[in-house]
Amino acid sequence: MPKRKRDTIVIAVPKGRVLEQLGARLEKAGIPTSALTAKSRKLVREDEDSGLSWLLLKPDDVPTYVEYGAADLGIVGRDVLMERDYDVLAPVDLDIGQCRMMVCGLPKASLEGKRERPLRVATKFPNIAERHFRAKGTPVELIFCQGSVELAPLTGLADVIVDLVETGETLKQNGLVTLEEIADISSVVIANRAGLKLHREAIDPILKALRK
Ligand code: PRP
Repeated sequence: MPKRKRDTIVIAVPKGRVLEQLGARLEKAGIPTSALTAKSRKLVREDEDSGLSWLLLKPDDVPTYVEYGAADLGIVGRDVLMERDYDVLAPVDLDIGQCRMMVCGLPKASLEGKRERPLRVATKFPNIAERHFRAKGTPVELIFCQGSVELAPLTGLADVIVDLVETGETLKQNGLVTLEEIADISSVVIANRAGLKLHREAIDPILKALRK
């Protein structure tokens, strides 16, 4: 196990748009967040009073830190867990960060009918997209993009995209529409298997408070 102060519970959280909702959700559960929400570039935020240490990570890295035991708990969107397999437990759904994984494209795009070539799909989520279209029996050519995926149908790079839709504003402002839903997404608490047993006394009350 990586180095850490004894009795500290390490929680990996995603930087970015969910963090604000997360702060409010944790406070509601009675979990102190002043260290987490303080304006700072520090990536490790220790709160000696509560015995919690927060790690600020890119969302995709949260399950990696939890799986390897560098963090006991993590907060992550279900999309990240759907895209790759991690050996972690997911004991609590937080009902925040709600959005949908969707197939989207130009209004004229069609997912049905015969086509001369595989459907070109641009996405940050190639595994989710591949599974979705395989289940439907639709041949696809996947094009991996890191972000701003909405550009792909606009420029002719791809026929459609598979991406997260929250408010729908990005689609709207770029003249795209939703074509098909793949899954409802929200943020969940994940836990390291060994850490859960080792630090049960400290972790159980946190999970209990978040379940309420
Ligand atoms: C996400 C997602 C969409 C957008 C959807 O991107 O990939 O582009 O948010 O949100 P909306 O429905 O509320 O408009 P993000 O902002 O994380 O940036 P990215 O495109 O660089 O991944």
